[in-house]
Amino acid sequence: MLECCNCCVVVVAMVMSVRMAPPLPVIFLLMIHNVFSEGWGVSYSPSHICALKTSSVIMSCTYTYPTGYKIEKVFWTKKSRSLDLSKDPEYSQRLQYLGDKQQNCAIRLSHVTQNDQHMYCFRFITNETKGKWTGKPGVTLTVTDLQVEAPERVTEGHNVRLTCKSSCTLTDRATFIWYRNSQPLTERRDRNNQLLLQSVRREDAGRYSCALHGHTYISPAAQLTVTYPPRNVSVSITGSGVIVEGDSVTLICSSDSNPPALNFSWFKENQSSAVGSGQSFSALQSGRFYCEAHNQHGSQRSDAVTVTVKGRLVILYISAGVVLGAAVIITMMIW
Ligand SMILES: *[C@@H]1O[C@H](CO)[C@@H](O)[C@H](O)[C@H]1NC(C)=O
Repeated sequence: MLECCNCCVVVVAMVMSVRMAPPLPVIFLLMIHNVFSEGWGVSYSPSHICALKTSSVIMSCTYTYPTGYKIEKVFWTKKSRSLDLSKDPEYSQRLQYLGDKQQNCAIRLSHVTQNDQHMYCFRFITNETKGKWTGKPGVTLTVTDLQVEAPERVTEGHNVRLTCKSSCTLTDRATFIWYRNSQPLTERRDRNNQLLLQSVRREDAGRYSCALHGHTYISPAAQLTVTYPPRNVSVSITGSGVIVEGDSVTLICSSDSNPPALNFSWFKENQSSAVGSGQSFSALQSGRFYCEAHNQHGSQRSDAVTVTVKGRLVILYISAGVVLGAAVIITMMIW
């Protein structure tokens, strides 16, 4: 009868069966119940624990029983099973009883995993046959991991808020730590589990993860992409930029932008309309050319490059001049 739950069930059943009967036996039964449970009890504080994956938890617990009993055995069980957890291979290596055989029944469970999510009860057995007690309900253990919640991409100059999410509420004393590409961050923290990046810069892009101060567990990383309009737009030119009439020279437009610029326009200086499109452009005439790179966030133009086209005759004269000059010099040297 001293087993708490058996005892409750019996009393409830009896009360229900005598509901229609005169009130006296009911009072009598309740009195018996009180007498039986007097002095027997287990209290857990707190009764709900939210623990971070891989951490250690201490389940604080005290128990009482009437004087004149001697505690023979103390142990913890998983709800609805009265098996001693220290005999369970899944737990035996990770359990440490911190209590005693008088009134403290605290226990430490280390390296908790999602599989440890249960209700745990303390049970004690005295030297008297009927002097056994399981403290129910017990301690509810919830195990959480951490997840970074952030938008996938943010445009440069905007603000972004990253949240370190847990599935249960960790204690108020928990201090969150943030990492970008595994480096700890010192940026402003907005509320405890949030990181606020104001006026985002390109350097803010990276893999973000969070952790709790004093714990080794680190959340999976979330990639934050920073998008921005083209900049450092430049034109590269194959060869010297001096070409012979009838040939062409290829100009290539490059830029730093995210997402990459896919849209390019080519202009000739002092000419308002575009002379071409696409990342490369074939110049056939002399002039100063520049390009403009676009993505959905904006556009930027490059500096101009000079293309010079020389007529074939000019080239020929220059070549002939060089040969003649060389001949004259050689002749003078021989002399
Ligand atoms: C149980 O222990 C108490 C205290 O030591 C003792 O007084 C009592 O006689 C014991 N009862 C039995 C059944 O051994």
